[in-house]
Amino acid sequence: MKTGFVGVGSMGGMLVRALLRAEALDPKDVWVANRSPQRGEVLAAEFPGIRLTTNRELAGHCDLIFLCVRGSDVPTVLAQMDPELYPGQLLVTTASVIPLKMLEERVPCRVAKLIPSVTQEIRAGITLLMCGSRVTRDDRTLLEELLGRISHPIVITESQARPAISLTSGAPALIAYLMQSMAEEALRSNPELSSEMALSMIQETAAATLRLMEETKMTPQELVGRVAVPGGMTALSIEILSRHVPQAWQVIFKETAEREAKDRAMLTL
Ligand SMILES: NC(=O)c1ccc[n+]([C@@H]2O[C@H](COP(=O)([O-])OP(=O)(O)OC[C@H]3O[C@@H](n4cnc5c(N)ncnc54)[C@H](OP(=O)(O)O)[C@@H]3O)[C@@H](O)[C@H]2O)c1
Repeated sequence: MKTGFVGVGSMGGMLVRALLRAEALDPKDVWVANRSPQRGEVLAAEFPGIRLTTNRELAGHCDLIFLCVRGSDVPTVLAQMDPELYPGQLLVTTASVIPLKMLEERVPCRVAKLIPSVTQEIRAGITLLMCGSRVTRDDRTLLEELLGRISHPIVITESQARPAISLTSGAPALIAYLMQSMAEEALRSNPELSSEMALSMIQETAAATLRLMEETKMTPQELVGRVAVPGGMTALSIEILSRHVPQAWQVIFKETAEREAKDRAMLTL
């Protein structure tokens, strides 16, 4: 089976590297096309045997194609691949903005959507998988097995996608931001700590907290109850957070859904 990757930027490059490092793909069966040649050349130097090519040639030779370009670049890429695409192929886009139905109407292939997360760089975390109506049981098994080599794949419906994407693909950034802002404000409240010290304290504690929850099967609620003893400083901190954090998440989920709907309304393939 020949596997092609169109667009090897942040996500496409990470997927190629993770799948090749996991030996889930053989370099000689991997075809790569990217707008600017440099990114492909770096990959080819790293993984001798992979084939650098054009979008059109890749479309004519690959059974499985990962389309890892931004949503706004998808129409151009499809126009370039058009003459070569055929029904026997499985085309998987990472562009969350593109509805599968719209893609299915545009190309003859079977189509699916994959939402990776930066955590696949260390072969961890969740990949979200959504299947179009033409996807077969074998296609789904193939994708689950392939992605299972670098992640925990979870199949969802497109209607579940928006919050699920925030919880998996967006979450590394959201979690990192929360840690950084907590460290920054700790420092502002007392400049006697150094910024490195504050950041490493929260980072190491976050890692240990996740391990503790995993090893003891403690739920987040149980953990809060264990640490935030009534009348204590952590209980006070939780009380303050509960006045602001749920509201912030509500706005985040509402505004991201609205933005996605707006982007989709302007989309043409
Ligand atoms: N970043 C994330 O965490 C994340 C997570 C989940 C899903 N996604 C989705 O994944 C997609 C890619 O995101 P990204 O962060 O990887 O973007 P990115 O870093 O900008 O990568 C996009 C790549 O596509 C290439 N490209 C653009 N037009 C092309 C064309 N006509 N032919 C061939 N290659 C072309 C670009 O080439 P150049 O080298 O010339 O720029 C670049 O290497 C987006 O739809 C995004 O929504 C991203």
